[in-house]
Amino acid sequence: MITFKDVSYQYDEKTPPVLESMDLRIPEGQYVALIGPNGCGKTTLIKHLNALLIPSRGEVLINGMNTRETSCHRDIRCQVGMVFQNPDHQIVGMSVEEDVAFGLENLAVPSREIYPLVREALSRVGMEGFEKRAPFTLSGGEKRLASIAGVLIMNPRYLVLDEPTAYLDPTGRRRILRMIRQLHQEGMGIIHVTHDIGEVADADRIIVMERGAIIMDGTPPEVCAFLMSRDNPGLEAPIMAALMAKLKESGWDLPTNIISVEDAHKEIHSCLTQLTRDNGFLRIHHK
Ligand SMILES: Nc1ncnc2c1ncn2[C@@H]1O[C@H](COP(=O)(O)OP(=O)(O)OP(=O)(O)O)[C@@H](O)[C@H]1O
Ligand SMILES: [Mg+2]
Repeated sequence: MITFKDVSYQYDEKTPPVLESMDLRIPEGQYVALIGPNGCGKTTLIKHLNALLIPSRGEVLINGMNTRETSCHRDIRCQVGMVFQNPDHQIVGMSVEEDVAFGLENLAVPSREIYPLVREALSRVGMEGFEKRAPFTLSGGEKRLASIAGVLIMNPRYLVLDEPTAYLDPTGRRRILRMIRQLHQEGMGIIHVTHDIGEVADADRIIVMERGAIIMDGTPPEVCAFLMSRDNPGLEAPIMAALMAKLKESGWDLPTNIISVEDAHKEIHSCLTQLTRDNGFLRIHHK
């Protein structure tokens, strides 16, 4: 369990707090998405999950370990794997192989045990054959995938990803999203920061932040309904929900709290099927 108890955080005393009186509980194995406009504090919040930042007030507990206890930091960082927003910040090795191996080398695991695991971690993210490449020669998307491999190799209980699909083409994005889903199904807790609610329709829960506070915490359909019900500076209503709302305005009998293309397709398809049955003149071609 990850627990935030009344957490506030201030980068310096002259500026207002970036996080304010935040309470939060994330059970192990849950898939949590975190959304909110630029600068609302998402990255600041998740840096508290592996003790990169320590609260100015309040406490953060990771499976009972308080991030204030320096002696717990190593264990906390083994349990909470962090993939940063900017993959350049995560590069430490002279080759991709060294880079991915870094965490295990720090734990003094012998090299002969590490390198098969490096290959396995790279193949998990579709980066086989990149072992000897210098990290600075990788594209943005490849750097991101290599940094995810470097975290997966540690076998964490929670995987925290800060905008993991930034820089990626549609294939790379799908690969990452599939991998996140797979890891979640295998029991890993996921904390996924994103600006695109469409990519977290599968999350157990979506948390919406605004100016350092949680303003909504619910299931994807609940959060979708919330976003549709108000003007959201910096946060667009989910595009599929907006489409459904427009169709509804034109008389279609559709729900509006839809986030993913797949669900929108299902609803529109069943609505058209119903119309065909009622009117008998529309033709729908099934694949
Ligand atoms: N090291 C720092 N020193 C001072 N202020 C900072 C520092 N890092 C972040 N901030 C400020 O804290 C606020 C929250 O930043 P944060 O990076 O957590 O936002 P975010 O929600 O992750 O935004 P984005 O969606 O753009 O990544 C911003 O106003 C930012 O300018
Ligand atoms: Mg950020």
